[in-house]
Amino acid sequence: MKKISVIGAGTMGTDIAQVFAQKGFDVVIRDITDDIISKSAAKLERSLARLVEKGKITAEDKQKLQSHISFTTDLNASADADVVIEAIIEDVKIKKDLFKQLDGLCKPETILATNTSSISITEISAAVARKDKFIGMHFFNPVPVMKLVEVIRGMATSDETFKAIMELSRVIGKEPVEVNDGPGFIVNKILVPMINEAVCVLQDGIASAEDIDKAMQLGANHPMGPLALSDLIGNDVVLHIMNILYEETGDPKYRPNILLKKMVRGGLLGKKTGRGFYTYQ
Ligand code: 3HC
Repeated sequence: MKKISVIGAGTMGTDIAQVFAQKGFDVVIRDITDDIISKSAAKLERSLARLVEKGKITAEDKQKLQSHISFTTDLNASADADVVIEAIIEDVKIKKDLFKQLDGLCKPETILATNTSSISITEISAAVARKDKFIGMHFFNPVPVMKLVEVIRGMATSDETFKAIMELSRVIGKEPVEVNDGPGFIVNKILVPMINEAVCVLQDGIASAEDIDKAMQLGANHPMGPLALSDLIGNDVVLHIMNILYEETGDPKYRPNILLKKMVRGGLLGKKTGRGFYTYQ
């Protein structure tokens, strides 16, 4: 495999592209507007400049890496990719429309992968004819740091596709785990209800946001507290995952917290909007 196409130039898409380019893959990042594309290019530039400052890569490495990445608004640029990884908005209809188009334009052997955080892989794969070449490849934020990739089989994913994506994950320095399709997969099914519970503790006035986070860092050895983590992931993403867990299982233990809903309605999405449980510069 040589060429990877990443659809969606948000935080996850840009970071996924960086990780592949660092391992020598040719990567094309596609999004729908020039504005999103230039923000993605600026984010990548900052990220790589930081690695140069820290002495992790040289200025020449940075240049070489950047020469492996191109940005585009043209979906046809994915046609000759070996793997397409979708990291767009968590909307099942939009994802299905996109994959239908990709199925029509990509070469027959291209594997289509989604980085969805919780939507059923089997459901999205219903949009394509090549269901055997459709799979979940779920990365974790921040992608350059987090070692895990959940490799999720849809009901029709072939063993060949599964093995190829497990191997690809290892080639880019990640540790893959095998997951069968199910709401929230492994990590989000466990992690996101924990975050929702932390919001309940805050809403019930049991402790401040700072003390909830401090308690989970020092008492459970989490690298960051659940509310800071929610701000990092995006409170809208956390709410969306809770909604899916609740809708798919019907189990009241997954009911999203009201305060979380209010914050999302109020645009307090976390780091990306400058305000969430904390305020950011
Ligand atoms: N991009 C690249 N590198 C980053 C980064 C980013 N956004 N954020 C931090 N780093 C790097 C730092 O540069 C530093 O690198 P160095 O050791 O080479 O200098 C290293 O990570 C450690 O960073 P810091 O010293 O600044 O801070 P921490 O030690 O607290 O680590 C953290 C930061 C890695 C974010 C850590 O707090 C952590 O692991 N938090 C939990 C993250 C987590 O749980 N992620 C999963 C979220 S769920 C998800 O993504 C699924 C989705 O579907 C919702």
